[in-house]
Amino acid sequence: MTAILSRYSTMPYRRAGASGLDLPAFSFGLWQKFGPDHPYQTQREILLRAFDLGVTHFDNANRYGPPFRAAEKTFGRLLKQDLAAHRDELVLSTKAGNPIGPGPYQRGGSRKSLLTSLDHSLRDLGTDYVDIFYHHRHDPGTPLEETASALATAVQSGKARYVGISNYEPGFAAELVALLNRRGVRLLVHQPRYSLFDRSPEDNRLLEVSSELGFGLVVYSPLAQGLLTKKYLAASIPPGARALDSAFLKPSQIDETYRRRATGLNRIAEARGQSLAQLALQWVLRRPEVTSALIGASSTWQLEHNLKALDFPPFTTGELELIDEFGVHGTGSTG
Ligand SMILES: NC(=O)c1ccc[n+]([C@@H]2O[C@H](COP(=O)([O-])OP(=O)(O)OC[C@H]3O[C@@H](n4cnc5c(N)ncnc54)[C@H](OP(=O)(O)O)[C@@H]3O)[C@@H](O)[C@H]2O)c1
Repeated sequence: MTAILSRYSTMPYRRAGASGLDLPAFSFGLWQKFGPDHPYQTQREILLRAFDLGVTHFDNANRYGPPFRAAEKTFGRLLKQDLAAHRDELVLSTKAGNPIGPGPYQRGGSRKSLLTSLDHSLRDLGTDYVDIFYHHRHDPGTPLEETASALATAVQSGKARYVGISNYEPGFAAELVALLNRRGVRLLVHQPRYSLFDRSPEDNRLLEVSSELGFGLVVYSPLAQGLLTKKYLAASIPPGARALDSAFLKPSQIDETYRRRATGLNRIAEARGQSLAQLALQWVLRRPEVTSALIGASSTWQLEHNLKALDFPPFTTGELELIDEFGVHGTGSTG
């Protein structure tokens, strides 16, 4: 594979909080459809196209596949066969802490779980270090002190360049920042879910807290797993769509309230000359606290289409007010 020379010419890069690291406005995640149930050729095409379009940040976790750990192996294969010469240009992240099995060291926030999982991820990815190692979810059963010490060890041992957290309430995030700072380690990023249909980072003040404490936000599922695209506006779900084969998005989430709100947003997008997906991505990136929108895609078409989301004029105050009418927290959620 030969990477194209223009790969840095169109992607905007944004500074992660008060750190020195720039991340692409769009990062790519391998949560679903990057295990052996889907063709490697398609996965490879999407990932290499992303790299050619300036996506330098690829997000993984020990849980991604299915089955667990499969997506890291997929990326490891790509790294070995296609991207080895470009390792220095990549920001690779992985996570541990969400359950990957029944055992006591296959979950949580202990030193044992986190550092064992990191070693396993490095073997599967085929790299000596990850750029960002995340604790996937706050574990109330483990002293935060122990989790902070494990994350600091990951950095001090050279196995991670930076550390991050995901799904932490702002209060616990602030506590962890203080514990890390005492060890001379910066919290680079927090990874929360944020979209027009999940506005928790506004409601719980995570957006403000991130800038007060100097970490960036890499926001996941900005398209609400596809609900913020046109694909679920039709009467029936199109073949191949995530809602038909995922444990995390179910047809029951696509109800009349969802359709009414998504249709309203789609009308606003059309009036602006963009698609619903592009509007939804531009909307999360309107906030300066958001370093990167962490997207998924099951085709190169989706990827290329979505990466054009910042080619449109900024939202006016009137448009933002109208968007608020339809971008209601909890839309399309499971409960
Ligand atoms: N930290 C955490 O706890 C956590 C949790 C979840 C995700 N994440 C991270 O965030 C990443 C992204 O999450 P996500 O995949 O839910 O993001 P998303 O961008 O909200 O959804 C992506 C999915 O939407 C559909 N889609 C995308 N563009 C489309 C378009 N233009 N038209 C129609 N459909 C389109 C595709 O699904 P189909 O084509 O398959 O329908 C695609 O896989 C994950 O890979 C992972 O790295 C982190």
